[in-house]
Amino acid sequence: MADYGAIKVNAGKPYEVLVGRGILKDVGKLIKEKCRADRIAIVSDDVVYSIYGKTVEDSLINVGFKTVSFVFPHGEKSKNLDTFGKAISFLIEEGLTRSDAVAALGGGVVGDLAGFLSATYLRGIGYFQIPTTLLAQIDSSVGGKTAVDIKEGKNLVGAFKQPERVIIDADVLSSLPAEIFNEGMGEAVKYAFLDKKIYDLMQSDYKAEELISLCVRYKAKTVEEDEFESGKRKLLNLGHTVAHGIEKLSDYEIPHGKAVALGLKTCVYGAVKRNSIDKKTGEELVAFIEKNTAAGDMPFKLSDIVGQAIYDKKRSGEYISIAEFKEVGKVAVTEIQMKNLGEYFGESDI
Ligand SMILES: NC(=O)c1ccc[n+]([C@@H]2O[C@H](COP(=O)([O-])OP(=O)(O)OC[C@H]3O[C@@H](n4cnc5c(N)ncnc54)[C@H](O)[C@@H]3O)[C@@H](O)[C@H]2O)c1
Repeated sequence: MADYGAIKVNAGKPYEVLVGRGILKDVGKLIKEKCRADRIAIVSDDVVYSIYGKTVEDSLINVGFKTVSFVFPHGEKSKNLDTFGKAISFLIEEGLTRSDAVAALGGGVVGDLAGFLSATYLRGIGYFQIPTTLLAQIDSSVGGKTAVDIKEGKNLVGAFKQPERVIIDADVLSSLPAEIFNEGMGEAVKYAFLDKKIYDLMQSDYKAEELISLCVRYKAKTVEEDEFESGKRKLLNLGHTVAHGIEKLSDYEIPHGKAVALGLKTCVYGAVKRNSIDKKTGEELVAFIEKNTAAGDMPFKLSDIVGQAIYDKKRSGEYISIAEFKEVGKVAVTEIQMKNLGEYFGESDI
C-alpha cells in the first residue's frame, strides 16, 4: 500500500482527503472503507477514462464491487443539463440504489457533474472524488460545491454536496498537458496569496503533493468555518470577480484557472494603487504569477471586464463582495459599491 496523508474536513458531514502518490490502484480499498455499496458508478470523461479507467475499475472489482461506467466527452461544454439527464437515465437503467455510490474520476468538470448527479439521484446517494487535474485536486474536489452550466451562465444550477472521501494521486498529474497544469497553478497562486506558508513553499524546490496538501488544508479550514459561503469562504474568491468577467467576455474560451491568474494580477496592481504594497513588491508578485502560470497579458480592457460584474453571484444590489488583497498572507472580504469597482482593480501601467 502506498503512503498517503489524510486531511480531515470537518464540514456538516466530516470526511477525509487522502493525498499521496500511486494510490489510484488502492481506490477500491479506500472506497470500501467508507461505504457498503454493492455497485459503484464511475463517472468520467473520455480522455481521463482512457488513461485511468481500467486501473480504477480493476481496483474496485478486486475488493468485490460491481462497477458500471458513465463516460462523456471531455470539456466544459459537457457540463450541462443534457449530460446530466443522460447520466440520470443511465443510473436508472443500471438500477443503482440509494446504498450504491458514484466515483468521480476526472477534473473539475467531472467532479461538478458527478457531484450534482449524486446530490439529486434518488434525492442523494454517496459519492467519492478522484480528482485528476491540479485544479480539481487543490480546489474543486474539496468544499462540496457541485453544479452544471446552463445557457444563461456557468454553474447556475447546483447543490452543496460533500463527498464521502476524496482520493488524490499526485502521479496522475504526469499525463496532464502543460497548459492544463498551468491553469491549476492559477488557483495555487491564489492560495499562495492567501497563505504565506504556501507562498514560501512555492519559492522552494517542492513536490506536487506538498503543494496539494497545503492548499487542501487551507481550503478545508476555510470550508469548515463557512460551509455555505456566507463569510470567510469568500476569501477563496480572490481574483475571481475579474476572472469571471474575463471568462464571460471570451465566451468561455479562456479557461477558469488562466482567468484567475489574470485576475490576481489586477488584485496586485490594485494593492499597489491603494499603497498597500510598494511598486517593486507588486512587480515581484506579478512576476511570480507569470512564472507559475504563463497567463500572459490581459486580453480585454479592465473597464469592460469589470462591467461584467453585474452578473456576478457575489453582487447584492449596489454592492459586491470582494476578497481584497493587501499583501501575501493578508486578504480580507470587503463590500465595494458597484460604481467604484472600475477604480478598485489595477492595470499594469500604474
Ligand atoms: N466545485 C468547485 O468548487 C469548483 C472550483 C473551481 C472550478 N470548478 C469547475 O471546474 C471546472 C474546471 O476543471 P478542470 O480545469 O479540472 O477542467 P476539466 O475537468 O475539463 O479538465 C481539463 C482537461 O484535462 C483532461 N484531463 C483531466 N485529468 C487529466 C489527466 N490526469 N491527464 C490527462 N488529461 C487529463 C480532461 O479530459 C479535460 O480535457 C470548471 O467547470 C469549473 O467551473 C469547480
